[in-house]
Amino acid sequence: MIEAKVIKTEKISNFHFLMDLKVEENLSPLPGQYFMLKLNDLNDPFFMRPFSVFDSNSDRLSFLIEIKGKGTKILSKMNEGHFLKIRGPLGNGFKFDKIKSALLYAGGTGIAPIFYLAKHLKKVGIEIDVVLGFRNKDRVICVDKFSNFGNLFVFTDDGSYANKGTVIDFKLEKTYDSIFACGPVLMLKAIQRKHRGAQISLESVFACGAGACMGCVVKSIRGYLRVCKDGPVFNAEEIIF
Ligand SMILES: Cc1cc2nc3c(=O)[nH]c(=O)nc-3n(C[C@H](O)[C@H](O)[C@H](O)COP(=O)(O)OP(=O)(O)OC[C@H]3O[C@@H](n4cnc5c(N)ncnc54)[C@H](O)[C@@H]3O)c2cc1C
Ligand code: FES
Repeated sequence: MIEAKVIKTEKISNFHFLMDLKVEENLSPLPGQYFMLKLNDLNDPFFMRPFSVFDSNSDRLSFLIEIKGKGTKILSKMNEGHFLKIRGPLGNGFKFDKIKSALLYAGGTGIAPIFYLAKHLKKVGIEIDVVLGFRNKDRVICVDKFSNFGNLFVFTDDGSYANKGTVIDFKLEKTYDSIFACGPVLMLKAIQRKHRGAQISLESVFACGAGACMGCVVKSIRGYLRVCKDGPVFNAEEIIF
């Protein structure tokens, strides 16, 4: 395990916060990889919690976190100077060799790995369009951070911000070499139907986060796959939702 120091926790909506950590070395996580964060030394809650890399730069790691339950509430209260244990980078990450263009979809906190991927793709000269979806305007986050990457399309379910609808309503007007997506299961299921060959980053409830307990498995055409070890990024076609 690695010791990390909290540099900043910043509330960015009533539901989300950003957590910046400093580590001793450059861990160079790949887009789509995640870290397990230990909540406290009391082991209550017992299991570490998984979070995708939202950003990373030399000795800094950044996570975009939605407050869901006890663990994320504990993390949200960690102030500057707090030390916590982390494990990672873990998982496989997105593949983007030899592509020239990509379409990226993110729903809700699915923004986290998609932002880091977008930043990476932009840096290596890949042309990208980004489609973001949120439930309503109160849950819209980080839109400004995507504005320098390429064309950006934003949807809210109720139309209270930008376009009304879901990311699936995005009208394709050109073709892309690769499609990447992260978000709620229903969204990923729809992406699976809409695009052949999409890479999707899945979430599932983790226990060990180390490939041992089979607590995080998803059904696939290759049998059961562990999201923590075989993923979290999968070819959409192989997943049986
Ligand atoms: C690979 C991976 C990457 C993730 N990246 C992020 C991220 O970047 N930002 C972020 O905010 N969250 C992310 N998550 C989800 C995050 O790990 C959970 O929301 C968190 O562990 C909940 O902990 P908790 O103690 O607050 O909630 P708990 O008390 O454990 O649970 C509260 C509620 O949330 C549900 N829940 C718990 N875990 C998940 C999950 N994985 N998916 C859906 N519902 C869940 C529970 O069933 C329960 O209803 C990721 C999950 C995985 C597997
Ligand atoms: S969480 Fe234990 S195998 Fe994935």
